[in-house]
Amino acid sequence: MALLSLSNISKIYQQGELTVPALQEVNLTVEQGEFAALVGPSGSGKTTLLNIIGGLDTPSEGEVMLNGRDMTRLSESELSDFRLFELGFIFQAYNLVPVLSALENVELIMVLQGRPEKERRERAEHFLTLVGLADQMDRRPSGLSGGQQQRVAVARALAAGPRLVLADEPTANLDSENATALLDIMYTLSQDKELQTTFLFSTHDPRVMERARRIITLRDGRIVADEC
Ligand SMILES: Nc1ncnc2c1ncn2[C@@H]1O[C@H](COP(=O)(O)OP(=O)(O)OP(=O)(O)O)[C@@H](O)[C@H]1O
Ligand SMILES: [Mg+2]
Repeated sequence: MALLSLSNISKIYQQGELTVPALQEVNLTVEQGEFAALVGPSGSGKTTLLNIIGGLDTPSEGEVMLNGRDMTRLSESELSDFRLFELGFIFQAYNLVPVLSALENVELIMVLQGRPEKERRERAEHFLTLVGLADQMDRRPSGLSGGQQQRVAVARALAAGPRLVLADEPTANLDSENATALLDIMYTLSQDKELQTTFLFSTHDPRVMERARRIITLRDGRIVADEC
């Protein structure tokens, strides 16, 4: 069974009189452990697709099967649990809590998961070390560079133990050196046999695309190419 399977996903936005078809009959299968990029011009539907997979938006039509469950049929509380335990999110804007240290930012999501304090601390330290921030754990986001803040966000996503990490243009605010460094860290983490984390990320950046093991191209809300 595939980790993620989208069948005939369509999304139509209503803007007054106007209907905007953001996605049209999208079919997509992603296996566990893949490291895949969603690319395509502005307005092609990348964010809409990631939001639907992440349960942040609902499709107008179609089915989203993730780890054997149809996400479009979950109740609100089932969906929020599903997001908390099965999915990791990395955003363009890092989205760290400014008053918390890097370590506390990574721990926070595990507080919500109800993990015991000792385990939280150990996992947070472990993942911050893996992303190269062993010496910066006590700093607040304002004391870290953009690249370092995004590495905290990667550690935060991974520490929660998700099956699938979704990232909408995670390198959009980084220079190309930091962008490729971040991608290399994400790829290394995806190769960890124990974690087997799957990554699906959108990007405009050719250097980031180069690092993907699969490139899914959207145009006008349709998948027009899918290459390994
Ligand atoms: N909330 C909304 N209401 C109306 N139309 C929307 C909404 N969100 C997205 N759209 C439209 O849906 C289409 C796809 O948008 P989407 O944001 O998914 O594209 P994208 O590929 O992420 O673009 P970008 O590369 O600029 O981030 C566009 O035509 C957009 O204008
Ligand atoms: Mg977008």
